[in-house]
Amino acid sequence: MFDPKKIRRDFPILSSRVHGEPLVYLDNAATTQKPRQVIEALSRYYKLYNSNVHRGSHSLSNQSTALFESARDEVADFIGASSPKEIIWTRGATEAANLIAYSYADAVLCAGDTILVSVLEHHANFVPWQQIALRKSASIVPIPLGADLTIDLEKLQQLLAKHQPKIVAVTHVSNALGVINPIKGITQLAKSFGATVVVDGAQAIAHEPVDVHELGCDFYFFSAHKCYGPTGIGVLWGREAFLEQMQPWQFGGEMIESVSFEKTTFNTLPFKLEAGTPPIAEAIGFAQALTYLNSLDRSAASLHEKSLRALAIKRLSEIEGVRLIGVDADNVGILSFSVDQVHHQDLAMMLDQSGIAVRSGHHCTMPLMTYLGVSGTLRASFALYNTEEEVERFALCLKEAVIALTETTSEHPEAHSAAIAFISPDLPELTATLQTACSWQARLAALQQWAEQLPHLPDTLRQPERLVRGCESHVWLYAEQTDECYWHFAIDSDARMMRGLAYLLLAAFQGKTSKEIISFDVSDLLSACKLNQFLSPSRTNGVYAMVDAMKTIAKSTPTDLAFFGNKI
Ligand SMILES: Cc1ncc(COP(=O)(O)O)c(C=O)c1O
Repeated sequence: MFDPKKIRRDFPILSSRVHGEPLVYLDNAATTQKPRQVIEALSRYYKLYNSNVHRGSHSLSNQSTALFESARDEVADFIGASSPKEIIWTRGATEAANLIAYSYADAVLCAGDTILVSVLEHHANFVPWQQIALRKSASIVPIPLGADLTIDLEKLQQLLAKHQPKIVAVTHVSNALGVINPIKGITQLAKSFGATVVVDGAQAIAHEPVDVHELGCDFYFFSAHKCYGPTGIGVLWGREAFLEQMQPWQFGGEMIESVSFEKTTFNTLPFKLEAGTPPIAEAIGFAQALTYLNSLDRSAASLHEKSLRALAIKRLSEIEGVRLIGVDADNVGILSFSVDQVHHQDLAMMLDQSGIAVRSGHHCTMPLMTYLGVSGTLRASFALYNTEEEVERFALCLKEAVIALTETTSEHPEAHSAAIAFISPDLPELTATLQTACSWQARLAALQQWAEQLPHLPDTLRQPERLVRGCESHVWLYAEQTDECYWHFAIDSDARMMRGLAYLLLAAFQGKTSKEIISFDVSDLLSACKLNQFLSPSRTNGVYAMVDAMKTIAKSTPTDLAFFGNKI
């Protein structure tokens, strides 16, 4: 029987605590944790075999080359490649997509050609196509989804017939929703119209059996770190004939055959597409991750992940206000949802304080979020080491967070008055409150209370041109300057925690001169208030984005700025 509790013992990080609570790691779609076997393989390599590969003239180099090349063999076996020559090491899925775009698409695309890309795509399998299309005067046409949020084969067929695309780029599994696309059907259709099919396997490789020849695609790529392996390495698989046709995209050592001042000739596959010293330890670590996976009952693991998702769906459906997205579709164990009246970032932050790691935001799928009509979602993604107890704890903490955040919601329409209110909270008082707060709950409560006290901006000012760039939630900023050169700011946000933080920043910046604003060090403020450890990277980025926007205003000619109102 598949026993996640036994498997957990292989993952040292899973017994750690976060904010004093046991870690519940449900951000596996971002990156999976690493088993002891992988960590030890990395360490063993550096302790026993570290040396450069291929060009060495000593035994250590022979050993490390043998390990490195056998890692390539292992990957080739894992995905059913015809030969290790078809396995190109990259830095990750993103680099693999860029490599196809620059070395393959650049050569085959002509002005007027079309690339079909599904609306589900991660930016890694979207932006490279958009950019190459721009360069080649080709166009990108979105493939829409069916009711189950997977690629709709009927609509795909119509698009293929209409546009006769050169390339069709699709994801095997959606990172935002977890839905599994019918890749075999997609490739059969697309190839019957003569298109080259590129499949992003970043979210599939750890969960679904992958046989590239059975799938029938031309390129398939993924990152090791989403499959229990190290960061910094990924794989591009391509049919040998396609890879042969591709020109190198980076030049240097390893990828050459001979070099003279007159001419350089290139190495054979796979080396001609791998310039420079490769990620040797990472390749060896990744092979160990695949060996580890192969030692488990993979179909039982996949069923286990799906059953955790089913349990999460059941529990979350019982929470008022929760809207699950893509519930019915077959799925690898990723659950995306939103909660009425509560910002996903606020929820993620509260869950983090209970040791629960989930992801909130657009998940690098902004076209999909637009398609779904949401600004972002909360995403819980399960791996083979997660347990039912963890799902229960996640659901319970989520319920408590939703209640806490909806009880005090300030999003009443009448709260949006027509007047702009410039408030000046007392900085020493706020700092002291945070400094003396005995726990994260107390700090959170203070921020929530300040969020309540922050006046909303009038709707006429909550407009796109006043949005602060670099914040994952919406933050609107308005500024005015008095004749005595003092600045007055008003800030609003759709996320509770950002409003609380904006309140604190207003205490620091309100009524100050340009010089005072520019010289203010916000990192000192965050550490004085003990917020530097408490805030997630995305929240910290949000704080710095607000500060940068206020500093930019203070530095620039007011009339140039969208944030700027009239002189008062
Ligand atoms: C579906 C998908 N494609 C591509 C990527 C990019 O992977 P990496 O950042 O490892 O290059 C991700 C990462 O989240 C993903 O989920």
